[in-house]
Amino acid sequence: MPRQFFVGGNFKMNPTSREQKENIVKILNDADVDPNTEVVIAPPSLYILPLANILRKDFKVAAQNAYIKTSGAFTGEISPAQLVDAEVPYVILGHSERRTLFGETSELVAQKTRAAIDAGLSVILCIGETLVEREAGQCTQVIEKQLQAVVQVTKEADWSKIVIAYEPVWAIGTGKVATTAQAQEAHSDIRKFLRQAVSSAVAENTRVIYGGSVTAGNCSDLAGQPDVDGFLVGGASLKPEFVNIINSRR
Ligand code: G3P
Repeated sequence: MPRQFFVGGNFKMNPTSREQKENIVKILNDADVDPNTEVVIAPPSLYILPLANILRKDFKVAAQNAYIKTSGAFTGEISPAQLVDAEVPYVILGHSERRTLFGETSELVAQKTRAAIDAGLSVILCIGETLVEREAGQCTQVIEKQLQAVVQVTKEADWSKIVIAYEPVWAIGTGKVATTAQAQEAHSDIRKFLRQAVSSAVAENTRVIYGGSVTAGNCSDLAGQPDVDGFLVGGASLKPEFVNIINSRR
């Protein structure tokens, strides 16, 4: 079965007003979108439920983070169980901003992935190398290490709940998108790793999406690569061009 195209909008810590949030939702709600694309919007946690209430029902919502525990004295955190209770189906984990700015290790990201799947969430698992790592020829090694941590705490069946987002750190918010060849090579390496570390079926069926300076101008070429199954979009997900990105396979 072909892998369903997936486009996520990671709003990060935007927008800064309810009005702006409503404007973005109006653009999405009025848009003519490819019904074959799975679309998931990840607003700041404060806005998840109000946004879900006004968002068209063929789009889903995601949290941008979740903790490893179900409840308790963990000020500032949201649990996977709470997201499930709020009918939020997805969570983004391991984003490079969480790894670099908030010190999340691959082991913590793996624990969070385990907790999220146990609670019933689907996970958008972000991985990717820095510029220094790429220039040192360590791209594959870094990606495999990030994935290996998750392989260690998951079973084969868990991978049906995981979408892998390959986001080279040097391409995030920089306007410097990976070339189609760089994206295809990394995605194909990820699939190769899954084949060896988990199974051929998981390698074949897991969606591997690309993130990092995706725009309406570069999405079609990237979407044409055989191992690129969609996008995780930051800046452009807050603009009308996000609709073109959703439709990049049409
Ligand atoms: O998660 C999406 C991301 O980090 C890419 O951000 O702004 O480069 O599209 P941006």
